[in-house]
Amino acid sequence: MALLSIEDLSLHYVTSRGVARAVDGASLSVERGQVVGLVGESGCGKTTLARAVTGVIPRSARIVGGKIMFDGMDLVTASRRDANRLRWREISFVPQSAMNSLDPVYRVGTQLMEVLTDRGGMDRRKAKARAAELFEMVGIGVDRLHDYPHQFSGGMRQRAAIALGLALSPKLVIADEPVTALDVVVQRQVLDLIRRLQQELSLSVIIVTHDISVVAYLCDAVAVMYAGKVVEVGRAADVLNAPDHPYTMGLYNAFPDLERSQRRLTPIAGAPPSLIDPPSGCRFEPRCPFSIAKCGEEPPLEEIRAGHRAACWRTGDAAELREKAADVATWEQREGVGA
Ligand SMILES: Nc1ncnc2c1ncn2[C@@H]1O[C@H](COP(=O)(O)OP(=O)(O)O)[C@@H](O)[C@H]1O
Ligand SMILES: [Mg+2]
Repeated sequence: MALLSIEDLSLHYVTSRGVARAVDGASLSVERGQVVGLVGESGCGKTTLARAVTGVIPRSARIVGGKIMFDGMDLVTASRRDANRLRWREISFVPQSAMNSLDPVYRVGTQLMEVLTDRGGMDRRKAKARAAELFEMVGIGVDRLHDYPHQFSGGMRQRAAIALGLALSPKLVIADEPVTALDVVVQRQVLDLIRRLQQELSLSVIIVTHDISVVAYLCDAVAVMYAGKVVEVGRAADVLNAPDHPYTMGLYNAFPDLERSQRRLTPIAGAPPSLIDPPSGCRFEPRCPFSIAKCGEEPPLEEIRAGHRAACWRTGDAAELREKAADVATWEQREGVGA
């Protein structure tokens, strides 16, 4: 049984401009000990989906359908008390931009101690020892526990945020854009750290990222999200080597590699739609270089090969589309779309 299984989850934000269907029938599962990447451009619902798992969602957010099964319990229907018990201890969330997740007016060690004593119920002596152990685990000198966040570099702040996330030995860690603000060298160090900790502690991890090269570097499985929907999902090696959804093909062209550079990059023209009034049919159709008349209908997320699903009417032609997608001219032809 998967540790986490999100089934057909829908979450809406009620705003003054209308209802934003930020997550619209998304399914995703995370096996024990697996690193899963959740990837897509900004505004596609990744953070919303991740936060739904943690149960910490804004007041304007409503889960309107689906299940979030964690270790046999449905977090959507669980009592607040049961769900709260899981938070930090079983599921922890490392928010986007560690800069903001650490309080600038408290020493880093104080913030770590607070989680250990208040949430973890440890006495101060135990908490101190655990704080030192956590800093060692993430590769920061124990003497730095006395520092304030501004005394840390970006990479150290991200390490400290990871230490916070690991404080109470969770089973599942969700890290939202853990390397986005960092330069490439530090990105790799932080990703290597996440991989090492994942192996040492047998963690399950969800990495939320807009950067598909992060998925290539670190993840076992990937779910590609576009406009509130999971449009392609499977083993990372499968999905990246042979994407079946044009959006995944486009993302691959749009980001530099963490390991090989020298590739010519082409952004996908346009931007993801507003989720208040998204296009009917395939939501990627207005930006897709391969659209056909059928794309006016919404494609279901269907199994293409074992463990690999995609929501596109043209998966039968995927090999041909991949070849065309590798040519940057294919994407340039749609310039002006969505403008
Ligand atoms: N608190 C909120 N209230 C209303 N709409 C929101 C809120 N947070 C996010 N949204 C909307 O939900 C959609 C998905 O946002 P988000 O989950 O942050 O995407 P991502 O993490 O992929 O960038 C966006 O259209 C965004 O405008
Ligand atoms: Mg986000």
